[in-house]
Amino acid sequence: MANITFSSPAMKKDVTVYAVAGDRCTLLSVAQEHKVPIHYECQNGECGSCIVEVSVLDGKKLKGVHLTEKEKTVLVLNGKLTKEEIEHMELNDVPPKWRMACQYMVLDQDILVKF
Ligand code: FES
Repeated sequence: MANITFSSPAMKKDVTVYAVAGDRCTLLSVAQEHKVPIHYECQNGECGSCIVEVSVLDGKKLKGVHLTEKEKTVLVLNGKLTKEEIEHMELNDVPPKWRMACQYMVLDQDILVKF
């Protein structure tokens, strides 16, 4: 189980939901299930409209799921990451804070998602 807190100026208040990790469950599907209004278009990791900022709430290091080549391309094109930052993160095993909700698989970790 993971607590996922969604925070956005588009919502009256933060919303925390419980999600089952490792069930091929994307952040976007969890948001949709709970009527959290994360914007999206393609749902296929191509448009970048669902980019969110992810941080941990338990004080631990964000569990890293490496970016796919598609995610890297879209995040660079949207100005969220530079190629140098991606290289640094990969060399140092640091997960990026910017993710695409339609591609981010929910892990067993409490996170804050800002959009
Ligand atoms: S909805 Fe297009 S990248 Fe996620």
